[in-house]
Amino acid sequence: MNVNRMGSKEKTKVLVVYYSQTGQLRNVLGHLVQPLLKAPDVDVVFEELVPERPYPFPWTLSSFFDALPDCIDSTVQKVMPLKADTAVSWDLIILGYPAWFLRPAPPIQAFLASEPAQKLFRGKPVVTVAACRGMWIMAQEQIKRGLEKAQGVLTDHVAVVDQGNAVASIVTTVRWMLTGNKGAWLGLFPPAGIHPDEIQRCSRFGDALLTALRQPTWPSQRPYLRGLGAVKVDPRLIASEKIGHAFLRFFGRALAHAGPAGSWRRRIVLGLFLALFIPLIVVMVPIRMVLLRALQPLLRTRLHSLKRQFEEPSGSDESSGNPLTNL
Ligand SMILES: Cc1cc2nc3c(=O)[nH]c(=O)nc-3n(C[C@H](O)[C@H](O)[C@H](O)COP(=O)(O)O)c2cc1C
Repeated sequence: MNVNRMGSKEKTKVLVVYYSQTGQLRNVLGHLVQPLLKAPDVDVVFEELVPERPYPFPWTLSSFFDALPDCIDSTVQKVMPLKADTAVSWDLIILGYPAWFLRPAPPIQAFLASEPAQKLFRGKPVVTVAACRGMWIMAQEQIKRGLEKAQGVLTDHVAVVDQGNAVASIVTTVRWMLTGNKGAWLGLFPPAGIHPDEIQRCSRFGDALLTALRQPTWPSQRPYLRGLGAVKVDPRLIASEKIGHAFLRFFGRALAHAGPAGSWRRRIVLGLFLALFIPLIVVMVPIRMVLLRALQPLLRTRLHSLKRQFEEPSGSDESSGNPLTNL
């Protein structure tokens, strides 16, 4: 690392900042950085973000949707002071986040908007890692804006998503969040969350990062995770994410204006929200499929270019053609 790159004996310093409620993302990050943890020339420091107002797990239906206003307004939640030293010149920062209501989870938003984050990210290479059900596109756009503001340099993005198709994972995630039960269900639904094999395979990203960090050219030749299937955007979900994002912003604001969590006005707005939200999901999925099939010839080029845009910088290619691993 620094010994190769800059001729000094200092170890390469990697900071892993994350928030993970059930520990799933922590597990993903643990496998991802395994090769770095084993490397004698790298120091890895983990910084788990702790929200000032913790979220319950399992959730009740109302506490789950009461988290929506926190996701819409990044100033509502705060995080405990960091343990990591913001004055240290980190060679790489890995920022891990789960998506909540198509946005980064509130502790991540709170952290990104904080003063220490502005110091921490300035001029530093950053790899973002989303571990979620599968709808992270809009969340990552928000992360990109936050990093840009803090002058962080996004080198790569990894998204690791739940097993099962988009519809099944809505059911399995909601059941998991509301009951704590992750198991397969009714012979119809797979276990909730990311498949354990997928989590194990994340060490391939750590291998590529280790090779990259040891190059004298780090971090100028980014991205480093191309060819490893770091992300995969389903073009059919792009429209759903954009519509859902605007819909959730509207209701998040309405909930916040209605009053504090538990107040009767807020309960009424929440009831209205649920009465619209659940039918919207049930109705939107088949309508979206029919519309997309009908309009595919017209939309193909546009969707393809959006897919490529949202998959930047690391891409969905799985050919393992990462040039650095062959050095
Ligand atoms: C309130 C809430 C909202 C969520 N919304 C989304 C979402 O919009 N998109 C998505 O892919 N996953 C969503 N999820 C699932 C999370 O991204 C993640 O998979 C799950 O919370 C487990 O992550 P963790 O235990 O590592 O924090 C949501 C979870 C919660 C608790």
